[in-house]
Amino acid sequence: MSTPRPSLGPTELPTPATENNLASTALAAFLRQHVRQEELLRSHRLAVMALDASRAHETLEAFAEAVRCHMEIEEEVLLPLYGERVHQPPRFGVAIYRRDHEKISAGLERVRLSLERFAKDPTPEAALFHTDFSHALVHLMEHHDERERAAFFPLLDRSVEARELDAILRADPRAGVG
Ligand SMILES: [Fe+2]
Ligand SMILES: [Fe+2]
Repeated sequence: MSTPRPSLGPTELPTPATENNLASTALAAFLRQHVRQEELLRSHRLAVMALDASRAHETLEAFAEAVRCHMEIEEEVLLPLYGERVHQPPRFGVAIYRRDHEKISAGLERVRLSLERFAKDPTPEAALFHTDFSHALVHLMEHHDERERAAFFPLLDRSVEARELDAILRADPRAGVG
């Protein structure tokens, strides 16, 4: 059972979301995907360091697919809901999250291009060069995870009934929380 939570002032931020403090179990499972995405990107970076171009390609594409599905649900379902139901604190509006997604997509394209160069010549020097791009993407992902945990996830969880969020996410196979 959820305990009543104190109401927030207009500019106050809630406690950041974790996988364990959300009322909606489907939203918690959806948030857990951030961890999986980080693991896939880490596997990709390790494969490049091991000069294994084929594994580097596989892991990057698995990461890209996971991020694509996750962002699609956020863009099409959760951010519109956040826009409608949540009083968005300054610096945590819908536009900021959409901009983060664009930056992540652009960062991913740079990593893909860099990987193409690496695959033609998988040397330690090429791996080192690639690391600059993949590290920039790690930063974008970390920053975005922090921003989503700060307002988007906890405020959505407070403002929409857990039953409704669970039903919305479980009804959409793209969310991967069924
Ligand atoms: Fe997310
Ligand atoms: Fe996101």
